[in-house]
Amino acid sequence: MHVAHLSLADFRSYARVEVPLDPGVTAFVGPNGQGKTNLVEAIGYVATLGSHRVATDAPLIRLGAERAVVRTGIVRDGRTTLVELEINPGRANRARINRSDNVRPRDVLGLLRTVLFAPEDLALVKGDPGERRRFLDELLTARAPRLAGVRQDYERVLKQRNALLKTAAAARRSGGGKGADLSTLEVWDGHLARAGAELTAFRIQLVAALQPLVAQAYEQLAPGGGETVLEYRSSFEGTLPTSREEAEQQLLAALQEARQQEVARGLTLVGPHRDELGLKLGPLPAKGYASHGESWSYALALRLASYELLKGDGGEPVLILDDVFAELDARRRDRLAELVAGAEQVLVTAAVPEDVPKALSGARFAVADGAVTRLDS
Ligand SMILES: Nc1ncnc2c1ncn2[C@@H]1O[C@H](COP(=O)(O)OP(=O)(O)OP(=O)(O)O)[C@@H](O)[C@H]1O
Ligand SMILES: [Mg+2]
Repeated sequence: MHVAHLSLADFRSYARVEVPLDPGVTAFVGPNGQGKTNLVEAIGYVATLGSHRVATDAPLIRLGAERAVVRTGIVRDGRTTLVELEINPGRANRARINRSDNVRPRDVLGLLRTVLFAPEDLALVKGDPGERRRFLDELLTARAPRLAGVRQDYERVLKQRNALLKTAAAARRSGGGKGADLSTLEVWDGHLARAGAELTAFRIQLVAALQPLVAQAYEQLAPGGGETVLEYRSSFEGTLPTSREEAEQQLLAALQEARQQEVARGLTLVGPHRDELGLKLGPLPAKGYASHGESWSYALALRLASYELLKGDGGEPVLILDDVFAELDARRRDRLAELVAGAEQVLVTAAVPEDVPKALSGARFAVADGAVTRLDS
């Protein structure tokens, strides 16, 4: 698939901009702070309904404006779908698909698939477990949009269960009323185990599917650079479940076991929100041991593997490479360029033209002073 045009109103630094796009490679080049990332961030938003840079929508609205509008035409198998998103901070966002507004923003998920590489990806390797959980969950949602609902259910149940535990912990400290709270807790254990087990089982499957693809991508980027191993680690002791049912039983048992501690601390201590995706390079964990360059290659390999996986499902994703080439040495830069050059659509941003590898020749836009101008190639 590819994006045939992007049009923004009051999104980030843009009052208004129209960018016609073709399949193949398109590079956006311009000095720092001119709005290159803002463009690709908007495309990523249509794919995921979120930004890769910020957790909330507010920064996406142009300073002084009330709402932002992102419009794209998405071409898949020769058919174009128009998607319009109105981003309203503090109020519900609105969506239109092919000019019909009888849809929810959620219905937009799955229409556009992207894999976005960005400097922030280093956190996949060096950052907290939450970064890696988010990576898995976002990829799950890209593959099966209905899992967005499973994620939301789990988050909601977790929040309510935590609130209950907090009250129980407070009641215990003040010395009364804990019995009643604990019986309600059991009902929430069931809800948490059900939603949590589904998420866990899908994540474990995903990690197994990613493993060979990450190993292959890493070897291509850094030949002889070591073996990558992905390990899903549960937040409690025991072997990983092989089915959703098994995951549910295990989680229920783990909740029973953690009960005392959870009530004492007023917090849910087991479940997919505390699981970890372990990344190893050779015998060592990548986090805390891998070099800067190795960490970068690992992060790129995770994104390349995501691309391969989504492509294998049908519906080749649009590749977005935001400012990544400047971070790499010449050899890795060329290898990455070769690996992505054949994709249906590749969008690249760079501060200077020299940072766009030769293998990625194609359309060029200059980005400066709020304008995006097509350059003759
Ligand atoms: N909500 C907003 N309203 C107005 N301006 C904004 C908003 N959000 C970001 N900006 C501006 O957009 C600019 C950043 O744009 P962007 O991140 O796209 O730059 P860039 O071209 O990718 O730069 P670099 O090469 O440094 O990555 C900043 O000058 C910032 O002040
Ligand atoms: Mg940028």
